[in-house]
Amino acid sequence: MTFEDRSRRLATQNLALGRAVYGERLVKHRNVEYRVWDQYRSKCAAAIMNGLETLPIQMGHKVLYLGAASGTTASHVSDIVGEKGHVYCVEFAARSIRDLVENVCAYRMNMSPILADARLPEQYAMLVEKVEDIYCDVAQPEQARILADNADKFLKPEGWIMLAIKAQSIDVTKEPSEVYEQEINTLRSRRFRIAQIVHLEPFDKAHAMIVAQRMR
Ligand SMILES: C[S@@+](CC[C@H](N)C(=O)[O-])C[C@H]1O[C@@H](n2cnc3c(N)ncnc32)[C@H](O)[C@@H]1O
Repeated sequence: MTFEDRSRRLATQNLALGRAVYGERLVKHRNVEYRVWDQYRSKCAAAIMNGLETLPIQMGHKVLYLGAASGTTASHVSDIVGEKGHVYCVEFAARSIRDLVENVCAYRMNMSPILADARLPEQYAMLVEKVEDIYCDVAQPEQARILADNADKFLKPEGWIMLAIKAQSIDVTKEPSEVYEQEINTLRSRRFRIAQIVHLEPFDKAHAMIVAQRMR
């Protein structure tokens, strides 16, 4: 969207009319309400601003979201997939999931909060359907392995993943590029074809977004 001051900002059509999630601005255009999507608060928005070629998450998709926190990015994913899609939100911090439930999921019928550890997908296997996409932002060591373990259980054949990597959360002693390489190799060894790697500076320091597709 282009604003009065000519700045261009990302925005998603608001599924929960009148409600902001993290203090973002609500704007109306031709009678449709949008929420401004802040690239400094959301790595997915930062990736789009930095040249993400294709956002795999689309209207009607079911998405497994690992590390949903209080719903900043997950709420925009909910806007994108719309009423016919669904977002399964896994988060293990009780405080974050309480905010997610009270401020976000209560107003969005297409989101399911799941208090669980993403390292143990069998614990929530009965709650999650097969999904078109997995979005992973758990800021943990072995993120690629955690994501691949979830993909084995929940991702449809040839489904897509988005992995937000914070280099420091994996190994503080390595340069970010080495860390990215290591995670990419893990994904390749688990049958993922890397479609794009987007560096997220200046919005997020030492972060990258990896987009990949599962091969049969
Ligand atoms: C960087 S924050 C996520 C921010 C969020 N994706 C967003 O853009 O709004 C990482 C989140 O992952 C959660 N997390 C870390 N390890 C986890 C695990 N093993 N299982 C579930 N959640 C985890 C943390 O509690 C934290 O809320």
